[in-house]
Amino acid sequence: SAEIARPPLTVLLAAPRGFCAGVDRAIAIVRQAIRDNGAPVYVRHEIVHNRHVVDELKDLGAIFVEELDEVPDGGLVVFSAHGVPKEVPHEAKRRRLLYADATCPLVSKVHREVERHHKTGCTVLLIGHAGHPEVIGTMGQVPEGSVLLIETVEDAKTVVVPDAGRIAYSTQTTLSVADTADIVSALKARFPRLEGPRNEDICYATTNRQQAVAAIAPEADLVLIVGAPNSSNSKRLVEVALKAGSSRSELIQNEGEIDWAWFKDVRTVGLSAGASAPERLVDEVIAAIRDRFAVEIVERRISDENVFFRAPPTPRRPALV
Ligand code: F3S
Repeated sequence: SAEIARPPLTVLLAAPRGFCAGVDRAIAIVRQAIRDNGAPVYVRHEIVHNRHVVDELKDLGAIFVEELDEVPDGGLVVFSAHGVPKEVPHEAKRRRLLYADATCPLVSKVHREVERHHKTGCTVLLIGHAGHPEVIGTMGQVPEGSVLLIETVEDAKTVVVPDAGRIAYSTQTTLSVADTADIVSALKARFPRLEGPRNEDICYATTNRQQAVAAIAPEADLVLIVGAPNSSNSKRLVEVALKAGSSRSELIQNEGEIDWAWFKDVRTVGLSAGASAPERLVDEVIAAIRDRFAVEIVERRISDENVFFRAPPTPRRPALV
């Protein structure tokens, strides 16, 4: 039987894509904790927002919980990369749990900034998405009520602050660069004395992944983003692709979620992955596309990344003698 010729398709691969330094470090902390102490190691919240990563760590002996009260006495617990409110390590200490903090150093930097603004008497406007664990963690660095959440330009235009002369803003690390700039200018228009971060709070990985997707999207009829539905930075990549001119962009957890009807009339597909998505999933997407098309892969790298965060030593369970 004659093989049916596969139609040609160009895959534009965005780079940088996928794992960032904070995700690498968080996964390393869990692996190291299991290696040094044996299973089980508890992890509070998904260590990073990716089911595939979570499942791999479960296989090694990690147990995922949402709150500390699910960790038994004497347990060792790792806090996720998104960061935690101050009361979480306090509670862990009170219960004499061993813990390792996998909060990304770039999130911790924002935590310290919010604390500093609070100490100088500023009301902090935190630009971010309600309910995201990073936002909950950042707001939880200072007493309740001292941070006001700003989600939209509309919020920026209407927020009521106690003293317009003493306000500062910080942001979630994984926001849309463009949308955040709009919100910050709306705030600055109302509050000329608004203080901001010394450097951007949106992290290098978020910025680079958005720029890389924006660079390929105008040429792509379809842009696939590999990432989880609860991954903030991955969802932003879909928005960036659409804004930059791709007619369609879809967030997929893995190749199994591809709807091949999306490929109708598509000659060029863009591909990237959020900061919590393993490269293996990208490889599997490419393999699935190759099954159906004669693929030419073109990688477009817009910048090189050489950020690395060392994992801290894991706490050790006391040896049983
Ligand atoms: Fe950190 Fe940015 Fe990754 S804040 S966890 S480097 S997406």
